[in-house]
Amino acid sequence: MTSTLLSNIGELVVHAGHRNMSDSALVVDHGRVAWVGPASEAPPTDRAIDLGGRAVIPGFVDSHSHLVFAGDRAPEFEARMTGAAYTAGGIRSTVRATRSASDDELTTNVARLVEEMRRQGTTTVEIKSGYGLTVDDEARSLRIARAFTSETTYLGAHVVPPDADPAEYVELVTGPMLEAAAPHATWIDAFCERGAFDADQARAVLEAGRAAGLPGRLHANQLAPGPGVQLACELGLVAVDHCTYLSDRDVDALAQSGTVATLLPGVEFSTRQPWPDARRLLNAGVTVALASDCNPGSSYTSSLPFCIALAVRDMSMSPSEALWSATAGGAQALGRTDIGTLEVGRRADFVVLDAPSSTHLAYRPGVPLIWETWADGQSVYQRTPTNGGLRG
Ligand code: NIG
Ligand code: FE
Repeated sequence: MTSTLLSNIGELVVHAGHRNMSDSALVVDHGRVAWVGPASEAPPTDRAIDLGGRAVIPGFVDSHSHLVFAGDRAPEFEARMTGAAYTAGGIRSTVRATRSASDDELTTNVARLVEEMRRQGTTTVEIKSGYGLTVDDEARSLRIARAFTSETTYLGAHVVPPDADPAEYVELVTGPMLEAAAPHATWIDAFCERGAFDADQARAVLEAGRAAGLPGRLHANQLAPGPGVQLACELGLVAVDHCTYLSDRDVDALAQSGTVATLLPGVEFSTRQPWPDARRLLNAGVTVALASDCNPGSSYTSSLPFCIALAVRDMSMSPSEALWSATAGGAQALGRTDIGTLEVGRRADFVVLDAPSSTHLAYRPGVPLIWETWADGQSVYQRTPTNGGLRG
């Protein structure tokens, strides 16, 4: 393997507290960040790449997505945009479509979405099941997801399928379905919300998962205030996701427990719900992550740059806080210490922006700014250059 020097970096974001504005360079060796510093002090390398003043940031870590599904729900989105409310009921139509899709169809759809993510700078993605809701369909969803990522999450407790008895379904989720899912899963999740699973049911699912070697994460407080955030903190989960409706007690519990609050602004964009209050969480000392929640119902975006722009514009996060939350925050939400920043020794997962600084991610919303994505020290996506360099 050859060592590579990347020089003439406009802004190098090692992590939020370490932004070098000029003359920065980065050395990649054996898939890892081997050195960062001023270009004039760089060690010798096998090859060198001049980035023409472009910014370099850590690769995005998307810690929450639901990519194994078939079909889409554009009519449901259209109805919401003209006044209909989001209800989790639409999940059942995706379950029907997913169950009748072939393995090949599901795999092709995941591949398409993962490729979209890569083109938008995502280098790690977590993928959940949850549109199968039978023993075989949950196991196959996770098997398909595993071909794309090691961060797979068993979400048999997404909703109770039509015609199932809730108590019997929880027995299935914590019994035979868990047994079939566990070999393909890293995590277990549940949707703790009125209309899905209550706190006792979610606790039963998370405890069964833990006993089977799957640590928990939780969907909570998405559609209304509820007990999910307290439950996640009490169980010491690594992350609790959505957090749109929080009481003061919830915020205190998050700050005390260290559970990461993962905010999913694509959901509020696509459902016209109120924005989660990121400022309140940050002021209380809570660790905040940003993720896409990419799914065909509540948030059909695969773009973390889009989520960053929303978080900056509408959730009172600074550009640097939002970038941290979509990189290091996502890594913490997955319990990962090898990704999320560009400190020496971390995996060389990074993004070259076609812009001189990371602020442009929110400042130029909707503009394709990803010039190149590197994962494990290799270039995995490169935009076809259309001009000789950055014009400022
Ligand atoms: O994270 N909250 C539950 N599940 C998904 C929505 C899934 C859907 O609408 O299909 C979410 O928002
Ligand atoms: Fe989700």
